[in-house]
Amino acid sequence: MAAPVALDQELELRIDSLAYGGNGVARLDGFVLFVRRGLPGDLVRARVTKVKKNHAEALTVDVLEPGPVRVDAPCAHYPACGGCRFQDLAYEAQIAAKEDQVRDALQRIGGLGELPLEPIVPADSHFHYRNKLEYSFTQAPEGPAPGLHRAGRWDEVLPIEQCWLTTDLGNAIRNAVRDWAREERLTAYDQKTHEGFLRHLVVREGRNTGQALVVLVTAPGKLPDEEHFVEVLRRFPEVRSIHWAVNDRPAEVTRDLPTRLLYGEDAIEEELCGLRFRVSPNAFLQTNTSMAERLYELAAEYAQLTGGETVYDLYCGTGTIALTLARNALTVWGVEFSEEAVACAIDNAALNGIANAAFFAGDVARSLEDLQARAGDPDVVVVDPPRAGLSNRAVRHLGRLAPRRIVYVSCNPTTLAGNVKELTTEWGYTLERVRPVDMFPHTPHVEAVALLTRGEA
Ligand SMILES: C[S@@+](CC[C@H](N)C(=O)[O-])C[C@H]1O[C@@H](n2cnc3c(N)ncnc32)[C@H](O)[C@@H]1O
Repeated sequence: MAAPVALDQELELRIDSLAYGGNGVARLDGFVLFVRRGLPGDLVRARVTKVKKNHAEALTVDVLEPGPVRVDAPCAHYPACGGCRFQDLAYEAQIAAKEDQVRDALQRIGGLGELPLEPIVPADSHFHYRNKLEYSFTQAPEGPAPGLHRAGRWDEVLPIEQCWLTTDLGNAIRNAVRDWAREERLTAYDQKTHEGFLRHLVVREGRNTGQALVVLVTAPGKLPDEEHFVEVLRRFPEVRSIHWAVNDRPAEVTRDLPTRLLYGEDAIEEELCGLRFRVSPNAFLQTNTSMAERLYELAAEYAQLTGGETVYDLYCGTGTIALTLARNALTVWGVEFSEEAVACAIDNAALNGIANAAFFAGDVARSLEDLQARAGDPDVVVVDPPRAGLSNRAVRHLGRLAPRRIVYVSCNPTTLAGNVKELTTEWGYTLERVRPVDMFPHTPHVEAVALLTRGEA
């Protein structure tokens, strides 16, 4: 049967629900349309943007009747800005949708019937929660402007006056750098022509320490009046660390570039779960500090440590989970791909006087046998993989290790569900608890913590 819609056709559609990723779902005589910026209950006029055999995509051009969960978005840049997707969806509806996504993935992909699903942990702040923002510069008529990518566009930047995901301090620092750049008559780098100087601005804040770090990324060239740049930023007493990084390649990156410290310490610190962590320009840290604390507390609750356990923290990043667990374990062993992150984890252990944690650089699937030979059998294994989840090989090695408890921290319910299926059907584990956590309000992202046990009553 041919699709009952054509490209560019405008249709009136009633949105039934929200699909994973954030598009509204509407049906036309059973044919499914995914409608961008359509919310459950809305009657919208939408233009068809893509037609496939079994479904089509459309973009809302007008909301004819708002549904019951539609609210006013507070940010003047919404919906043009790509930073937020759901500012106009009531928060209760956002978290209900995220909880449904975790349930649905575990039932459909994980093949699990009755689920030990606990209610989603809502975010404690709906706005101003990010501890890091990366801006790209664009050339506005008034001069260079730091901004964020336009929704759905990787080649267009929207100048930002006030972002609701960062703090007043973060907004003030960005605007001060913008004013400095205009005063100095600098130009924004153009990705197409490769001309211009200013490329990115990164602002990081230790939310529990009140310290801030700034990285200005430019094309090769001279930073004019460096002292004045530092002076502008030092007007903010929170700014403890100012870096200048140079990117001479076309790739739009802000990390691992040749970097010069212009002022202060080379890193700031953040406090999580009562421990201090170093935040250097390249260090990975969860971007919502207070919800990262909730996530780690939940992982600790699921791990049920009593002080005598050998714990592995796989995909350990800079050691945040391992170090928060070390207080209640015999030993903790972290494995992580990035050598730089492992170096940070070792520094973080020393910074907190923790002597029962060790960290190794390597691929998880390839390192587990060596780790077992060195560390002994684990009682508890925590995994916090990237969005792709655990590879088949990593699941096999984990299954052979046979820890009593696996605590799975996931940023992607789909891959969590696939891995849970394998661990329950092939390796004798039972999914005992699972709890979604909302770390990123107004975005489609959802985290979840799951506890899998083996041989326990
Ligand atoms: C979601 S982060 C978790 C970091 C840390 N647990 C935290 O909360 O800050 C995933 C980490 O896995 C690392 N990684 C990705 N693939 C890996 C692999 N195959 N082996 C080891 N580490 C890997 C990444 O470098 C990243 O630091």
